[in-house]
Amino acid sequence: MNEPEEPAITPEETALVNNIPRDILFSLLDNPHESYVIVDAGGIIRFMSKSYENMSSFSQKDAVGRHISQVLPHSRVHKVLETGKADVGTPMILDGDHRIVSRIPFTRKGRVIGAVGKILFWHTEQLNELNTLINRLKGRIEQYKEELRQVYDSRYGFDHIIGQTQAIRNAKAMARKAAATDSPILITGESGTGKELFAHAIHRESPRKGRPFVRVNCSSIPGELFESELFGYEPGAFTGADKKGKIGKFELAQFGTIFLDEIGDLPLNLQIKLMRVLQEKEIEKVGGHPQKIDFRIITATNRNLEDLMRKGEFRLDLYYRMNVINIKLPPLRELREDIPTLGLHLLTQLKKEIPKNIHSISTAAMNALMSHDWPGNTRELRNVIERALIVCNRDQIELEDLPPAVQKAGNTVQPASGPSGTLKEILNEAEKHAIVEMLKNSGNNRTDAACRLGIHRTGLYQKMKKHRLI
Ligand SMILES: Nc1ncnc2c1ncn2[C@@H]1O[C@H](COP(=O)(O)OP(=O)(O)OP(=O)(O)O)[C@@H](O)[C@H]1O
Ligand SMILES: [Mg+2]
Repeated sequence: MNEPEEPAITPEETALVNNIPRDILFSLLDNPHESYVIVDAGGIIRFMSKSYENMSSFSQKDAVGRHISQVLPHSRVHKVLETGKADVGTPMILDGDHRIVSRIPFTRKGRVIGAVGKILFWHTEQLNELNTLINRLKGRIEQYKEELRQVYDSRYGFDHIIGQTQAIRNAKAMARKAAATDSPILITGESGTGKELFAHAIHRESPRKGRPFVRVNCSSIPGELFESELFGYEPGAFTGADKKGKIGKFELAQFGTIFLDEIGDLPLNLQIKLMRVLQEKEIEKVGGHPQKIDFRIITATNRNLEDLMRKGEFRLDLYYRMNVINIKLPPLRELREDIPTLGLHLLTQLKKEIPKNIHSISTAAMNALMSHDWPGNTRELRNVIERALIVCNRDQIELEDLPPAVQKAGNTVQPASGPSGTLKEILNEAEKHAIVEMLKNSGNNRTDAACRLGIHRTGLYQKMKKHRLI
């Protein structure tokens, strides 16, 4: 570091330094909270703090004049002599303890003339705590990410869609073609025809598989919460908002697929907002700024959107925007030949949840299943098989294991007349019947049906769930 031909520092600088008593300068370099080692361009030690003695076999005095690699074999201070680049605030384990080290080269006229190595001892404990906390949080984030991936993932593929009838084959072929594109898809069909199943399968076969599949049921979210559910909000966006803010479903679906189920129940004011999102591929969080989102949209409904548009309840522009590819799912009564395979497939599936030694369905029972009209389509078939699996005490499902309405279709045993079961069961059955009838009479309009039944739309939704109508 001694460069006799060059003044070490300017006279002004010298004056400044001279104002600091030497003992203060020295104690600054030799304080117990941080350690310094200063080397010249050749790596020879010019100064070493006393606290370094703990890491060296040389005393502070003996260290001076020796090469740093001899005194502090683990030091990398002389490395910055080669690179000329400072290395500041690097965490390191020294003598089994976490430390923060810095190595800074001194340059003069572009030439490295020496370097200082500095170890911070103070508040390493807090840094360790912070480090532990960060590591723990990192682990948790990974865990949540994995859980989120599982929640927002498609659960079914095309293999889960059973049916050899031409109508199902056509729907599957169309869905497969659509999966390869990024175009919006509208899936229509009566309740229980497999719309959700198709949406899962399309995502799973699309280039977006492995990315989130986010399902939103437009009829189960109360109108006033819809916007924040879909688009999220910034912290403190409105009174009563969560302090941490909220991530909306569109944001969760980034790079994946968003499935808006029961789109026919979306209120008009939100249809306008959704239209904007589809046009701009951009969302605006409540109290936030616009944000680009890369998503694919699949919508589904069991309602007649043309009717809704005529009545002014569904926007024409939104309809055209989301109906680029339309997949129409046939009702089960048009797929009668598929009922035997479908029935057995559902039986096998349900046995995973209700393990019983039942492997087949008797001819009489199968005839009844094939003759029934299935207003609730495949979901109703599934429920009927599940019930049969529970009540059956032989090794095959018999006609008498089916509910009276289905038995009737088989045109054999007539159901006993008059109500049977406990009062609770009878009331339950009556409630279910009232809901089914009211939905039918209101053209599947849940808002209307709920209003006529004198209950809230979300209340109706919960009851439909309870009775397994959705
Ligand atoms: N082709 C099929 N093969 C196998 N299972 C099916 C088929 N179609 C429907 N299902 C089963 O029937 C049930 C209802 O299907 P899903 O929920 O997809 O119907 P949906 O059309 O979305 O009904 P909703 O309009 O009431 O929401 C599910 O258990 C589904 O797995
Ligand atoms: Mg559905």
